[in-house]
Formats: sequence, structure tokens, C-alpha cells
Amino acid sequence: MTQIDQHILSATSDLRQVLAALEHVSTKICLVVDADQRIMRTVTDGDVRRALLGGHDLDTPVSALGDRQPVTRAQGTRRAELLSALDERAIDVIVLTDPEGRPVGLADRAALTKTLLLSPPHMGDAEAGYVQLAFDENWIAPAGPNLTAFEDAMCYVSGRHHAVALTSGTAGLHLALRVLDIGVSDRVYVSDLTFAASVQPILYVGAEPVLIDADPESWNMSPAALARALARDNERGLLPKAVIVVHLYGQSADMDALVRLTEAYGVPIIEDAAESLGASYGNRPSGAHGLMSVYSFNGNKIITTSGGGALVSDQQDLVDRARKLATQGRDDAEHYQHSDLSYNYRMSNVLAGIGRGQLEVLNDRVAARRAIFLRYLDALSEVPGICFQSEVDGSIGNRWLTVISLDPDLISLHSYQLMRSLQARGIETRPAWKPMQMQPLLAGAAFEPHSPERAVSPGLFLTSLCLPSGSAMSIREQQGVITAIKEILVSEGQS
Ligand SMILES: Cc1ncc(COP(=O)(O)O)c(C=O)c1O
Repeated sequence: MTQIDQHILSATSDLRQVLAALEHVSTKICLVVDADQRIMRTVTDGDVRRALLGGHDLDTPVSALGDRQPVTRAQGTRRAELLSALDERAIDVIVLTDPEGRPVGLADRAALTKTLLLSPPHMGDAEAGYVQLAFDENWIAPAGPNLTAFEDAMCYVSGRHHAVALTSGTAGLHLALRVLDIGVSDRVYVSDLTFAASVQPILYVGAEPVLIDADPESWNMSPAALARALARDNERGLLPKAVIVVHLYGQSADMDALVRLTEAYGVPIIEDAAESLGASYGNRPSGAHGLMSVYSFNGNKIITTSGGGALVSDQQDLVDRARKLATQGRDDAEHYQHSDLSYNYRMSNVLAGIGRGQLEVLNDRVAARRAIFLRYLDALSEVPGICFQSEVDGSIGNRWLTVISLDPDLISLHSYQLMRSLQARGIETRPAWKPMQMQPLLAGAAFEPHSPERAVSPGLFLTSLCLPSGSAMSIREQQGVITAIKEILVSEGQS
């Protein structure tokens, strides 16, 4: 029985049958059809109530309620048109019909106004239990058993010996710079194509960011640009104090090449693995290659603590120093004594409970996001001009977000137009990160392009779009995204 069949009643049905049918459908409306199955009218429980109050009993046939022209639209009517019809008539449901006037579906306001989000949180079964544990044990503090267990689990998944859980990934990057004593007049290299949080902490400590372009295939830090920048700045005596390497959208940067280059000049790498938890490079977790690494558990990430982060390293002294700076820098004394400028950056034991539960399902979340990516790849790579971010050799991305780029020589539609058309269909997409060199905040910052003739990241930004990638998205929902993209490209301008 299709869903619409459950709503359909013949004109001879009585009010008792109407009430019984209404109990079993989520959209509380019945459709009365004639002998040819064409829609005659709709009946709601309000209609039944009015009939009973008007003197009818439950044996009254629906035909006695009289005719009322239902609001119908042809199957396939656009979402925007359906919504404006609902608004115009101040109703919540429209009956969708085939060319013969037979009902084939219902368009209801709740479903039409629901937006498929880019990357919403996806809780497992254990999170609430760990949060309850924090309440039961009264560990409502930035310390406690959840926090310790979460940090231990973070060491395990990041392949590192030490971890400190924090209020955010941004805090982790800030602490990584402080731990390395980076400050005013120091220089820090950072990926140009990234979220602003990779760069803000460099400004917090008063250092100078140097923006390193993206590689055209991996979209991550270009080894060619890094090599050029290091060689030039070495000659000038202006080597950076650190290089922040971002693993964009969950795919690892080419760490062998980047580590080789930085080691040759004795410059440490801080991995901004905010987006790449659960990914791997060279058989080790993403985030296990630099001196220190930072993860984010922001609400949109592959796992979340609603907001949070972690700094990990194999060097205990670095993580201990970060932990001290994250807790107001309290010295080892009986009284409250502070020698270092420091912060209140520790994660709460309550939120660490969410993190414990989320880490238990990390592998499932990675598998789900990769499956989503593979379905997009399968369905959209047949469209000429749609390209995907690739994974460097020896790496497996977590595909936190699947991002497509539209080749302007083959697709005339701008990615923003595609984004707006998808939004009109209730599908959230986002442009790729706007490169740091294009940000007003960083006007005048030094930038090293991928090749002397070519900057890559602005082109990626202007042509790319992040697609819904949430691990709880159903295959049917994803199919809707794929169909919508194809329809929009056909109807609105594939050249
Ligand atoms: C690349 C990158 N770096 C850093 C961050 C900062 O993480 P948070 O939001 O936890 O501060 C994020 C995400 O928000 C990010 O995507």
C-alpha cells in the first residue's frame, strides 16, 4: 500500500471510517474519491467534529458533508509554487494529482519548509548516558571522568601519546602557537584555502601570517608553493616559526612532501586537523604527522561535542604546557599564583560525555560520509564539468564534506546560482571557504602562489560548492540532491 492509499476513502465511507483512517496517517487529512478514483473533496477531523456538532452521527456517509473543491496541483509542481499556493490559501496541505485528477501525493507545509542541512550533528546511542553520568557524579566542571576518558580515546584515534580537550579547535591552534612561544614579529605559514579559524590565532599572538596557496588536485597546501616560500625566506633570514597545514574538508594534505620540506629547514608543522578526524595518511591517522595537531568538535564536524576541540602531540611537555595555559596558567603553588598570560580553554566534563559517545561511532560516521561521497561521485561525475577534490596517494579522507567544482568552460551556471536554486528546493549548500588572501582581515598579507604564474585557491573558491554530507542523510534524500543538481544544470544553463 502506498502512503497516499492510506488517505483515500470512497464517497460511501462513513464518519467512523474517516476517524479510523485519520488515526493511521501522519498528515491528518483524508481524500474522498469518486468511482474513477478522481478527487472529490478532502476531510479533516475538524470537518467530522463540525458534522457531529451539527447533528450527524458516526454512521453518516462523507457524501453528506457536501462538495468542497480541494486545492490540487499537478504532480511535479515546483516547491516554490506549492509554497506560494499554501500561503495564498492559508492552508497546510495540497493534493497532488495525475493528469486525470487522481490523487498521487500530498505536499504538506512541514515537509516543504524543511531544509536538508549541510552537515547537522548525528548523535549515537551512548552520548546521553555519559552526559547523565556527569550529572549523577556531579562532575559539572572542566575536569572529571568523562574528560579523562575522552582524552584517552582521542590519543587512541589520533595515534598520539598525549591529548588535551578544549573549548574549541581555535583555542587549540592558539595554544599550539603559544606553546611554541610564537609572538610579535614572528612569521607563520598557513594554508590559504581554509576557514578563518586557521589564521585568527596567528593574529591573536601578533605574528604575521604568510598564506600558502592550494594544490589544484588535493586543494590542500601546495608543496610547490611551500618549497618556494621556504627557500626564499631562508635566504632572507625570514623563516617562519611554524607551518599550519590544514586538511581541507577531511582530506589529508600531502604530508610526506610537506614534512620533508619543513624538516629540511627545521620548521615545525602544526596540523589543523579540525575537519579530518578519522581520516588517514600513510597508514596513520590524519593529525599524527606534525609536531602538534588540533581537532574541532564544532556542531558541523564529523563528530561533535556541540563545541569543542583537542590538541594532541607525542611530546608530553607540549601538551602539559597547553593544558596549563588552558587553565589560567596556574603555577604549582598552594595559593593562586600565575606567571604566564593564559586562558580559560578547558572542555567541560559534561560536553566530554558527548564526545565519548561520539568517538564510539566515529568509524561509522566516516563510513557513512565516504559512502555519501561515492554516491555523489558515481552520479555526478557523468555530468561534464563537475569535478571533485581528490585524495593524495596513500591517504583516505573522511569526506567530512563532499565538495564539487564546476568547470566554467563546460557549465555556464555560477556555483552561487546553483546554491540559490538548491536553497529554493530546501537543500542547503555552501560555497567553498573564501581564501584568506581574499579576506579584508588579511589585506596585504604575504601570499605564495602554487606556481609563479598561477594562484589556485581563488579559482577553487569561485567554482566550488559544498554539498549536503551529513552522516544521517538517507539515500533517498541524497538522491533528491543529485536529481535537483542535474535538473537545475539542465534547465538553468549547462553550456
Ligand atoms: C579548518 C578549520 N580550522 C579550525 C576550525 C576551528 O574549530 P572550532 O570551530 O572548533 O574553533 C575549523 C572549524 O570550525 C575549521 O574548519
